[in-house]
Amino acid sequence: MSDAVQTQSTPNAAFTPRVFSGIQPSGNLHLGNYLGALKRFADAQEQGIESIYCMVDLHAITVWQDPADLARATRELCAGFIAAGVDPEKSILFNQSQVPEHTQMAWIFNCVARMGWMQRMTQFKDKAGKNAQNASLGLFAYPALMAADILVYHATHVPVGEDQKQHLELTRDIATKFNHDYGVDFFPITEPVIEGAATRVMSFRDGTKKMSKSDPSDMSRINLTDDADAIAKKIRKAKTDPDPLPDSLEGLQDRPEAMNLVNIYAALADLTPEQVIAEHAGQQFGTFKPSLADLAVAKLSPISTEMSRLMQDQGEIDRILGRGAERAREIATPILQKTYDIVGMIRS
Ligand code: TYM
Repeated sequence: MSDAVQTQSTPNAAFTPRVFSGIQPSGNLHLGNYLGALKRFADAQEQGIESIYCMVDLHAITVWQDPADLARATRELCAGFIAAGVDPEKSILFNQSQVPEHTQMAWIFNCVARMGWMQRMTQFKDKAGKNAQNASLGLFAYPALMAADILVYHATHVPVGEDQKQHLELTRDIATKFNHDYGVDFFPITEPVIEGAATRVMSFRDGTKKMSKSDPSDMSRINLTDDADAIAKKIRKAKTDPDPLPDSLEGLQDRPEAMNLVNIYAALADLTPEQVIAEHAGQQFGTFKPSLADLAVAKLSPISTEMSRLMQDQGEIDRILGRGAERAREIATPILQKTYDIVGMIRS
């Protein structure tokens, strides 16, 4: 992330660098969320840039959630952030619904974004499936709320996995159109930060599909709540091909499952995929998978243990979220007010 932050392009020169990202509390956190997002948030925190991380509970209800499950998943996600190394003192950590400025800003953006832009969103098409007429209006409007999440803080950098790229392009389009329509230079043109070996962790059952919490097969993913045995078993049973690991990355080009395991190894060990290949060239999966399982257990087990410990004190989690929301509002309120002024809303 450091390079991306430092080489920030000129449109944002007037803005203080600020990081924002969000995760939905809609089910188990998995290895994709950890490597594509959480671990990178923890690493970025050390760079001293103001960072704001949000449990996006309002996004989660764009598809129906059992209320008790949603509350539990939100607290568990907060525990996941902290267990993965995000410090709630250094970073701002809160749940979206406690900061009403997100939805207030989202309404303005609903009036800026165009129907045609929203209709192109591939995630809406994927999630709504064949029955799009029956999807919620919220699911359709979701990317405008996501733009509001980011821009209500004037965030300049958004670390995410690759699947969020299109939503971040829309965020830039919304900021550009708002600035243009009102003749201002008010919103930054946010930079997506999609970097590292694991920006798209794939399913253990099918190397062409992304690892996801909605996959019906639990064997397709590692959950951050899985114990050591489950982690090792899932890696051992992960789909692979019969060939040994090649001696260069090019040799992985048409081998999505093998490529996925190499990328996961690299991201967990803080190595590049090239370094992993150099160390393990010629190995059969019968040898490579146990090394990967040992590494995954060593890195992930402490996180799941810490999550369970934190979950025992829900009062403390709620206190952290409440304090985070207060700090978030200190930044968001003046930006929303200024937006209202620009748009012509009277504030008496
Ligand atoms: P969500 O909750 O689906 O995922 C949270 C983060 O995890 C990343 N991710 C992955 N990375 C690598 N490989 C995978 N298989 C994988 N699966 C998920 C996602 O890219 C994401 O970074 N719309 C967002 C949440 C959101 C948001 C925001 C993000 C709402 N507002 C503002 C950034 C800024 C989402 O549904 O992520």
